[in-house]
Amino acid sequence: MPHQSVTNIAIFASGAGSNAKKIIEAIHFNKEKGASIKLIVCNKPDAGVLNIAKNAGIDTLLIEKERFFRGDAYLPELKEKEIDLIVLAGFLWKIPTQLIRAYPDKIINIHPALLPKYGGKGMYGHFVHQAVIDAKEKQSGITIHYVDELYDHGKIIFQETCNVYENDTADTLASKIHALEHLHYPKVVEELVQMQNHR
Ligand code: GRF
Repeated sequence: MPHQSVTNIAIFASGAGSNAKKIIEAIHFNKEKGASIKLIVCNKPDAGVLNIAKNAGIDTLLIEKERFFRGDAYLPELKEKEIDLIVLAGFLWKIPTQLIRAYPDKIINIHPALLPKYGGKGMYGHFVHQAVIDAKEKQSGITIHYVDELYDHGKIIFQETCNVYENDTADTLASKIHALEHLHYPKVVEELVQMQNHR
């Protein structure tokens, strides 16, 4: 049997963790996918994603601001787990330069709108969807992109759109977008893993 390489993933998430859950379900328990989710990194002690990690038997790392931004950015923990790819799924802190340098083109994020519109600091969750509704956009969608030093700015990997109707609210739009995220984020992660493993 030829040696099968495996991509070790850390998911950074600080919310409910529904995207993290979908990614875990899609790849973590399926050896053929060539990926292992080694760590869930979180900055909120009461975040739902911590339970999801616990139920899946995945280690968690609770991080604090000072060390993340002005210390070693938790690189030793990421190195110890031999992390190859970082997947942001509802992680709201900016990624420090140190981490971006250590993982060039190896950090991805999902944004619940069609970047470059409706991105940037403070543009998350409900704020994004309300801005889209207020601007009477006919379409919104999701963007999966590489992470660079600016918020919601790196090279775009994937986008998918959905229609916005006159009777849509920020809540109904949020549900449509979540469904799109759950459908596509695991697939995009899988594709990146395949590329990485065949290198
Ligand atoms: C998603 O909508 C994602 O686009 C954004 O944060 C949200 C996370 O939701 N970056 P969940 O915690 O995965 O349910």
